[in-house]
Amino acid sequence: MMKRIVLTICVAGALLSCHTGTPQLGKADVKDVVAAMTLEEKVELLIGTGMGGVSGDSAVVGETRNIVPGAAGTTYPIPRLGIPAIVLADGPAGLRIQPKREGDTETYYCTAFPVATLLASTWNTALVENVGKAIGKEVLEYGVDVLLAPAMNIHRNPLCGRNFEYYSEDPLLSGKIAAAMVKGVQSNGVGTSIKHFVANNQETNRMNNDALVSGRALREIYYRGFEIAVKESHPWTIMTSYNKINGVYTSEDRALLTDILRSEWGYKGTVMTDWFGGKNPPAQVHAGNDLLMPGTAKQYETILAAAKSGELAMEDIDVNVTRVLNLILDTPRFKGYAYSNKPDLKAHATVTRESATEGMVLLKNEKNALPFTADVKSVAAFGITSYEFIAGGTGSGDVNEAYTISLKEGLANAGYRFSTSLADVYEKHIAAENKKNAPDPTNPLAMFLPRTRAAEIVPTAAQLSKSIAESDIALVTFGRNSGEFADRELKDFELSSVERDLLKAVCTAYHAAGKRVVVVLNIGGVIETASWKEMPDAILLAWQAGQEGGNSVADVLKGAVNPSGKLPMTFPVNYMDAASSANFPYDYVAGTPVFMPNQTEEKAEKVRNVDYTRYEEGIYVGYRYFDTYDKAVSYPFGYGLSYTTFAGEDLQVTKQGDAYVAKLTVKNTGNVDGKTVAQLYVSAPKGKLEKPAKELKAFVKTRVLQPGQSQTVELHFAASDLASYDEDTAAWIVEQGNYAVRVGTSSRDIWQTTDITIDN
Ligand code: BGC
Repeated sequence: MMKRIVLTICVAGALLSCHTGTPQLGKADVKDVVAAMTLEEKVELLIGTGMGGVSGDSAVVGETRNIVPGAAGTTYPIPRLGIPAIVLADGPAGLRIQPKREGDTETYYCTAFPVATLLASTWNTALVENVGKAIGKEVLEYGVDVLLAPAMNIHRNPLCGRNFEYYSEDPLLSGKIAAAMVKGVQSNGVGTSIKHFVANNQETNRMNNDALVSGRALREIYYRGFEIAVKESHPWTIMTSYNKINGVYTSEDRALLTDILRSEWGYKGTVMTDWFGGKNPPAQVHAGNDLLMPGTAKQYETILAAAKSGELAMEDIDVNVTRVLNLILDTPRFKGYAYSNKPDLKAHATVTRESATEGMVLLKNEKNALPFTADVKSVAAFGITSYEFIAGGTGSGDVNEAYTISLKEGLANAGYRFSTSLADVYEKHIAAENKKNAPDPTNPLAMFLPRTRAAEIVPTAAQLSKSIAESDIALVTFGRNSGEFADRELKDFELSSVERDLLKAVCTAYHAAGKRVVVVLNIGGVIETASWKEMPDAILLAWQAGQEGGNSVADVLKGAVNPSGKLPMTFPVNYMDAASSANFPYDYVAGTPVFMPNQTEEKAEKVRNVDYTRYEEGIYVGYRYFDTYDKAVSYPFGYGLSYTTFAGEDLQVTKQGDAYVAKLTVKNTGNVDGKTVAQLYVSAPKGKLEKPAKELKAFVKTRVLQPGQSQTVELHFAASDLASYDEDTAAWIVEQGNYAVRVGTSSRDIWQTTDITIDN
């Protein structure tokens, strides 16, 4: 035995000195590699290799465009120690790389999957994990090591420009869906980066904004989803957010990154900044923000100087270097994976088409207007978005896909005919508008921003009567797009007067002719619905459904798929009804967005909601506010119709150790096959801390149930899930007393309620 050990050490020793006599990563112990590094090499490893064209001269060896063009960044290679550069690329709806390369006839398209909000609307963790598997496969086969996703900030306000990249207003739903995505992507042996940690809830002045948030709201709302994802799925990396929280940049906050994330939650992975985030590189290193991305020459110099002067401890540097090396060790690039550059895009098109249908939410369906009956043969498609479908949002959350199926194409593929006279009017109008609105080729930011879309039109009376003659049903599609760098404006939340006139004209004319009107919403975030929802017969919230969007919508309209999506956020009646709207820059008129606004000096005079934002609503985000204060809403959290109906029966909760198991029988009481979601909310007794009227504590998606068929579902939660964070004692407390356990099909549609008692 002794001999064998000695022999192993000899072999390791031989490998240790292969070629150069210096320890090689993967062959020698990581600590020996760290010990062999010069200070300069350590600092290089802590910052990325720069972003060509943006971080100037720091774009150095191993620059991203030479490895995987269009990826967001790379780490610094140190060949003498066997340390390769690894590649990091966006994003939440699929891999974002450049589809074409200079002097290369091959294409490198990726699949545009549905946006995060749609995936959360499925409430189906198995489905999301499967989408993650497909995304991760593209990451692996295109030679990328870490996907900069999922993004999982809370939908604090309907107008946040990046809500489409995020999951929900509820931290449990966000955390569980994010964990499923991480598991799926990472099952390919590539990494993820859950982002943006944390409280990046507005784009306006995102690099300087100071989020002023109570400790309780941070713990219960903003951290909570990240905590779930960290504990359940072990993401390889976490990306800190741009903003400050209570005066400190998150990337410079040691209490957040070391005490809470690592010591309390047990996180073992690497932390990186968002691109150019934070201002004080030595403070970032000390905080435990291991990697500064994409890396600038100035960061390198500042860290080196701080290390030399002793302002920054060598130990801080070594801890972070060790974590970056451990990350590199796990990557396909380090392991020498021979990627094909040929993921199965055809198979993934099927994954996106099918997953998108499950996240679409049927908001209204009067007199079973949907699915189309057999006598619907021809469709009139109104609204420019029917012809120019939006696959996903813009910015780093955008994907370079080969095609997007429009609603018109999807319906044609499903065998429907069209009102061709109407299609002709729209197509000519759109072509002319697009010519006029062509993006400015001299603006480097243009590729990141939503392009100006063709103006909506109202058909003339003559066009309308022609289209009525040519069609059995009318679709009116409304579209919205947004992305990073800017929040949405109030006018984006409302329908424009032209959109209203269009809807009114179509509804009046089609209803007079005894024909129905269906609205399709191709949007990334919440819009106003209360004032117009009475007009059409049905409303399908299709979200931004990825590159197969038109086919997915057609599958639902036709009834090939029965919608089972449920809202992951509340649709308020008015924008100002949301508690956070009192402190959100909805009326801020942004100038032209700039790439690195954090290069500016601190302003002496701070502007409310721009330089700082008070989260006065505390824990009362979304339904926690609307349901506690009994506010009318247009559609509640968790809501979504089906082509069938369901009932929940026989709720029973049993205690098993510290855990509770609620069992409920869900029955399909209607006429067609369908799935639904059982949502478990808990209402706490009165105690020391104020509590929302109810909070989501568990959920489960049923399998497909045939008419009359039942499934007994189990919903699990622990006593600790009922705790609230007491700022006085800096501790989680579970109040004693009776808790109502309510299981239903939205926060406002409860099937059954029972009680549990906690007496510690
Ligand atoms: C975004 C991140 C993204 C990064 C790299 C930043 O502008 O905020 O979400 O991962 O760019 O592209």
